[in-house]
Amino acid sequence: MTEKYQIYKCQVCKNITEVLHEGGGELVCCDKPMNLLEEKVQDPEKGEKHLPVIESNKVKIGSVEHSMEEAHYIEWIEATSRGGYRTKVFLDPGQKPEAEFAFAPVSAREYCNLHGLWKK
Ligand SMILES: [Fe+2]
Repeated sequence: MTEKYQIYKCQVCKNITEVLHEGGGELVCCDKPMNLLEEKVQDPEKGEKHLPVIESNKVKIGSVEHSMEEAHYIEWIEATSRGGYRTKVFLDPGQKPEAEFAFAPVSAREYCNLHGLWKK
């Protein structure tokens, strides 16, 4: 059973998909079950580089700025409003690991291409 907004990744081809409507079936890609990405909420490493930091309408990634190199970068930042409105900003290597939104987010998620999904 899936849940709305869960994110799944194919370990073979690296497809990533988000659930927009819950269903009873298993998500399969490349003939294998897709892996549910856990929303990590704590970085055990010293110098936090993954947890979103919400500052008014802006979300920055990491209290220590995360890498934005081709091999290791933040692919997107998602913000959720008090009313449950969600939107994502997609980033490219070389950009700053931050995004501005039209509202003050109450929570945020981000996806690092090497270290997965993080939530604040
Ligand atoms: Fe990372």
